[in-house]
Amino acid sequence: MTEATDNAADRGAEAGRSALILGCASGIGAAGARILARRGWKLALLDLAAEGLAEIAAETGAGAHVVDASDPAALAQALTTALAELGRVDAVWSNVGMQTAGTIEAAAVEDLDRCYALNVRAHFVVAQHAVPALREAGGGPLLLTASNAGLFPDRELVTYSATKAATVAMAKLMAVDHAADGVRVNVLCPGWVDTPFNTPAWGTYGGRDEFLAKVPELIPIGRIADAPEVAAVACRLLSDEFAYMTGHAFVLDGGEMLA
Ligand SMILES: NC(=O)c1ccc[n+]([C@@H]2O[C@H](COP(=O)([O-])OP(=O)(O)OC[C@H]3O[C@@H](n4cnc5c(N)ncnc54)[C@H](O)[C@@H]3O)[C@@H](O)[C@H]2O)c1
Repeated sequence: MTEATDNAADRGAEAGRSALILGCASGIGAAGARILARRGWKLALLDLAAEGLAEIAAETGAGAHVVDASDPAALAQALTTALAELGRVDAVWSNVGMQTAGTIEAAAVEDLDRCYALNVRAHFVVAQHAVPALREAGGGPLLLTASNAGLFPDRELVTYSATKAATVAMAKLMAVDHAADGVRVNVLCPGWVDTPFNTPAWGTYGGRDEFLAKVPELIPIGRIADAPEVAAVACRLLSDEFAYMTGHAFVLDGGEMLA
């Protein structure tokens, strides 16, 4: 864990708050669940990976709900159950996503459909439940995880980039529609983060080691991010510190988009 997130001083600092997170059995979402739990949040965690979810739920004392978020009816059911169990919700983070690699000639229509089902439709279903629940709680943040790939032409990721761009557009629209309800909608847009998620993209460079050798050319900061440092920012976006920010795409990419 990075120094930024291994902070004993904030233990229990946000006790009494509650959040729902979708996509948190590994990577950025799991790191975020750990940070929020340490700060005292009560959590409802949703993910497809039953084993990883059970581990993180046990570690954080959270409620666990196994669901395939690409199935809208199953996701709606799980969200209803999880929100009812929480009782009230102060923040919702829809972090689920998937990636398929390729140019328009290499990608298949099915790749686009699979990306769309998670990167757009799952966030849509989460938002359908989150907006009324947050409004009822007196307002609060809804955070969607997109990617910097939704903001600039990230090569040979046409299905991923297109669907992540749709997430950014959807969040900005919801931010305007629901600002008067006190519901703030922002988007987390990481660049490269060291999680297994990137296996398809690393494949386009010949593998992880081949990709890492190119990092100094691609990323001005000269390294990829680790999951806890990205999660630390997400957790700040879920706190009251950002109460005046809505409709914003928050980029954490080591300067990649500027290079
Ligand atoms: N890793 C990166 O470099 C990177 C960069 C930009 C954006 N992101 C985004 O960050 C988010 C989290 O990615 P990560 O890197 O932590 O990856 P990860 O693979 O570690 O985590 C993704 C989580 O989503 C869950 N999930 C996958 N399919 C699911 C489904 N159908 N139903 C329910 N849960 C499902 C997985 O089990 C896992 O727990 C994604 O939205 C991803 O697009 C990642």
